[in-house]
Amino acid sequence: MDKKKTQKTIILATKNLDKIREIRQLLTDLPITILIYKDVRCFPDIVEDKDTLEDNAIKKALELRKVTGLPSLADDTGLFVDYLNGEPGVYSSRFAGKNASYVHNRQKLLSLMKNAKNQERSAYFKTVVAYVDEYGKVYTVTGICEGNIIDKERGTKGFGYDSIFLPKGMNKTFAELSDEEKNKISHRGIAFRKIKKLLKVRMKNKQ
Ligand code: IMP
Repeated sequence: MDKKKTQKTIILATKNLDKIREIRQLLTDLPITILIYKDVRCFPDIVEDKDTLEDNAIKKALELRKVTGLPSLADDTGLFVDYLNGEPGVYSSRFAGKNASYVHNRQKLLSLMKNAKNQERSAYFKTVVAYVDEYGKVYTVTGICEGNIIDKERGTKGFGYDSIFLPKGMNKTFAELSDEEKNKISHRGIAFRKIKKLLKVRMKNKQ
């Protein structure tokens, strides 16, 4: 029998290829088929207009499940900088304006931080993952990674704010780490390992 047909199928609520790459690696050993936006015709354009990561993640997963009928996974992430009273936070993707590029967002952050002293540079990434199962039940988990904003970009891997974020206890920025190394300690890695546990338990109970 075709193994794929017997596997659970889940769809990811993102068009961000950087995230998709990390998430695929994080869920790699689960016996599930992961679909992305390119695999379905009806993938909706979902507006992230809520004031919290939780509400955005839940909104994205619920809307996607409604349209596709499939169990859906959504991730919403923000960078919270203490010196900026938690900004950019939930607005991290549009910090330098609507449709701002990663580069522009980083430049804006570096310029706002130019007078910050070393001890004033603490920040954290937070990811909320929402999972809506086949019955429409919603689950959420959270992952946090603490660190510091440095004053110059370092590294060319990763995406978003990775090249200016130095995770706590490390001497490499996220952009100097491989996906595998980043996933071990990152906000997204922590959150998706929690989701993985939840999915494993649910699949076991169904056997
Ligand atoms: P989103 O709303 O979850 O897509 O994420 C908001 C923004 O946060 C993205 O556009 C990126 O700039 C940034 N971001 C999300 N995850 C990461 C990450 O793992 N590293 C660096 N920046 C990230």
